[in-house]
Amino acid sequence: MRLLKFYKTAVGKKVVVAITGVVLILFLIAHMGGNLKVFAGPGVIDEYAMHLRTLLEPIFGWGGVLWIMRAVLLVCVLAHIVTVALLIYQNKRARPQKYHRHDLQASTLAARLMKFSGAVILVFIVLHILQFTTGTVQPAPVLFHEEDGHMMADVYLNLYAAFSMWWVSALYIFVMACICIHLYHGGWSFLQTFGADNQDRNKAFRVWAWVLSLGLFIGFSSVPFCFWTGILPPPTISGVEHAPASSTEGH
Ligand code: HEM
Repeated sequence: MRLLKFYKTAVGKKVVVAITGVVLILFLIAHMGGNLKVFAGPGVIDEYAMHLRTLLEPIFGWGGVLWIMRAVLLVCVLAHIVTVALLIYQNKRARPQKYHRHDLQASTLAARLMKFSGAVILVFIVLHILQFTTGTVQPAPVLFHEEDGHMMADVYLNLYAAFSMWWVSALYIFVMACICIHLYHGGWSFLQTFGADNQDRNKAFRVWAWVLSLGLFIGFSSVPFCFWTGILPPPTISGVEHAPASSTEGH
């Protein structure tokens, strides 16, 4: 009850947006780290994908930990979006037209960028999972093979096939730029939420927000860029078989 009461306040909502935002950023850093394994070769990234599914298998079963992570991520994404929407509504009701013209323009641009980039990220996440995880959306063929009775995606091969198409790579890099903008503004307002807004520290905080968002942009974009330009070589794995999309997970 006390938690619900706290959530109903503007500060409570900002805390929820900040905490879920941090969890999502941690996921992005981990995902980027995993993706960068492509530079170590097809064997390494495919082994990593396998490792994600066999992690603590005796306790949680095959893919169990991955499902827990998926559940946490889903809760965080939903809580983040719903709470931001509630905050916008609450703010609108609290101060209908009190901004000065200059403030209004600045805040509207930042807010618009957040809304636009947030919407792009949301659409991207859905399409991205349908592309690489389930193989439902296939701009380029997505392949799976069987391993110990479970269907596994051929990660390197699928990335190579997708990002060899210029428009898929360009689209991914565009979305990564949206994520960069979203994280920069998000990271900055996160620090302000917790009262860290201070003239002396502001410059350092802005630098950190840039380092984080640009670091993620470069790390993520390097994968489509290097496949697209041929810096990353084609896969040499043979004997892959194409499986129906529905048989990817849960075996
Ligand atoms: C160039 C950038 C990216 C590449 C190359 C990439 C690649 C991949 C691949 C290959 C998978 C499937 C992994 C597997 O089956 O083991 C995957 C899954 C996923 N990616 Fe990405 N990703 C990128 C960016 C992102 C971003 C920015 C987000 C979030 C905003 C994201 C969210 C996810 C999610 C939620 C999954 C599903 C995990 C699961 O349920 O198994 N990815 N990604």
